Amino acid sequence: MRDRLDKIRAQVLEAIDSTSDEKALEDIRVRVLGRKGELTLILKTIGRLPLEERPEIGRLANRLKEEIEESIRARKEVLRRLYRRSQIEGLDLTLPGRCRPLGSLHPITQVMDEVCYIFERMGFTVVHGPEIELDFYNFEALNIPPDHPARDMQDTFYIDDKVLLRTHTSPIQARVMETQRPPLRIIAPGKVYRCDSSDTSHTPMFHQLEGLMVDRDVSFAGLKGVLTSFVQQVFDPDTHVRFRPSFFPFTEPSAEVDIQCVMCKGKGCRICSHTGWLEVLGAGMVHPEVFRHVGYDTERFTGFAFGLGIERIAMLKFGIDDIRLFYDNDLRFLQQF
Ligand code: PHE
Repeated sequence: MRDRLDKIRAQVLEAIDSTSDEKALEDIRVRVLGRKGELTLILKTIGRLPLEERPEIGRLANRLKEEIEESIRARKEVLRRLYRRSQIEGLDLTLPGRCRPLGSLHPITQVMDEVCYIFERMGFTVVHGPEIELDFYNFEALNIPPDHPARDMQDTFYIDDKVLLRTHTSPIQARVMETQRPPLRIIAPGKVYRCDSSDTSHTPMFHQLEGLMVDRDVSFAGLKGVLTSFVQQVFDPDTHVRFRPSFFPFTEPSAEVDIQCVMCKGKGCRICSHTGWLEVLGAGMVHPEVFRHVGYDTERFTGFAFGLGIERIAMLKFGIDDIRLFYDNDLRFLQQF
C-alpha cells in the first residue's frame, strides 16, 4: 500500500507540474481526489486494512491528499501569473487602441433635464408622483367629473375602476397640495400614458412637465411672465409667445400657449400647418374647486398651473418630424444626440 501511495504521489505531482491550463488541472483533481478518484478510493478502503497498518497508511494517504491539493493550488497560481505576463508581453503597441463605446443620455432625458433646470432657476422645486395613479387624483380632485369625455376608455389605460395609468402629470398638483401648505412653487416631470395608437405625433407613453405655483397674489400676469421666460430660454430669446383662451376643468381661466413656429419663424410651413404658430403648453389659474378638494382657502390663495409635453419641445428643438423615432431605439438615431 505504501508503494502504491508513493507511485501515485510521483505521477500526480509530475502531471500537475506539466499542466498548461486550469482545465487540465481540474481533470487531474477529479481523477485523483474526485468522488471516484484513485486516492479517494484508497481512503475509503483503509478501514479494511489490518488493524496495525491502518493509522500509518491513513496518515500517509491524508498527507498525500493535502500535498496534492496544495500542489494544484500553487500550480493554478503559477498558470494565472504566466497568463497575465503573456498578456502584457504580447501587447502590440502598434495596434490601434480599443475604443470603448460611451453611452449618452437619451434626447428626451436631455430636454427634460434642461427644462427642469430652467424652472429650477426660477425657484421651482422638482417633485415626483406615481405613474400608477388613483382615479381620484387623476380626475376627481382635478374637477373632472365621472362623465367628462377625458375619462373615455379610449384615452385612459384603466387597471381597475379606481386605478389607472396617469394620463397627465396634473394629479401631482393635487398630491402636493394635499400635504403642503402655500407658498408652493413646484414642477413635476414624468411619464404619462394615453390609450392612443401611435402616429407621427402620438405614442401611448410620453413625457410631461407640470408646474404649480400657489401663494397670495399669484396672477395670470405672473404665469405669462414665467412661461414667456421659459419659452425664450428653451428656444430663441426672441421667440414670440401667444396665449389663446382655452378650457381645462382644473384651471379657470385656461389658456393654450403657442410659440411662433421655430421652423419658418412665423411665415407658415408644413410643421405649423401654415398658421405660423405651434402649441406647446396648457396652462391657467388653479380652479377654486381644485383648492376646495385639498382644503385651501380660496379667499387667501391663488395659483397658476401649466403642463407641457417634453417630446413636443424636443421635436421642435431638434427638428424631428416623427415622435416614434424617440422610442424605436435605433442607435443611428440616438447616437446623434
Ligand atoms: N394636464 C393638461 C394636459 O395634459 C395640461 C395642463 C396642465 C393644463 C396644467 C393646465 C394646467 O393636457
